[in-house]
Amino acid sequence: MSLDPIQHLLDEHKAIMAQVADLRKAVRDLEARGDAALPDSLPVLRRFGQLMETQLARHAKKEDEALFPALEALFGAEGTPTAVMRVEHAEIHRRGELFRRTLSELQTVEHPALEAKGEALRSLTGVKGGGADALRATATEIIELIEWHFGKEEQILFPMAEQMLDPETLAQVGSRMEALA
Ligand SMILES: [Fe+2]
Ligand SMILES: [Fe+2]
Repeated sequence: MSLDPIQHLLDEHKAIMAQVADLRKAVRDLEARGDAALPDSLPVLRRFGQLMETQLARHAKKEDEALFPALEALFGAEGTPTAVMRVEHAEIHRRGELFRRTLSELQTVEHPALEAKGEALRSLTGVKGGGADALRATATEIIELIEWHFGKEEQILFPMAEQMLDPETLAQVGSRMEALA
């Protein structure tokens, strides 16, 4: 029995959303306490930056390379829901890179020096304020993008795939996913 590809993707969404919940807590803390929250928030932010490069990137790859081609074989690849999802994957990935870049700007900087780093961070992100503001703004965008994207997949794309793909095709998609895992 091969992997149920839709259930597998849903399980991954759940695992990623648990980390998003931690990120949201860190964002609220940065909102409330500003740069003073950085020592507590940075480990959570860094962990999420890592996750975007590893777990989340692998998840998107499973969709891009295993699930979407099966749907595109039926309805084409242009102007279709999968085309929109592919664009969003790229956008989320770019936001992740910016997030990690902003974090690495802070990597070797101790808290008292954060103020001095503020200007560099502002030019990097276009956000006014200190390090906390720059990170908070990017993290908030990332949370919104991921929630919006996962929501569309769960409400529209996955049910569509379950309806349109026959059991044999779904099994093939599952094996392709296992090969990518
Ligand atoms: Fe996706
Ligand atoms: Fe997904």
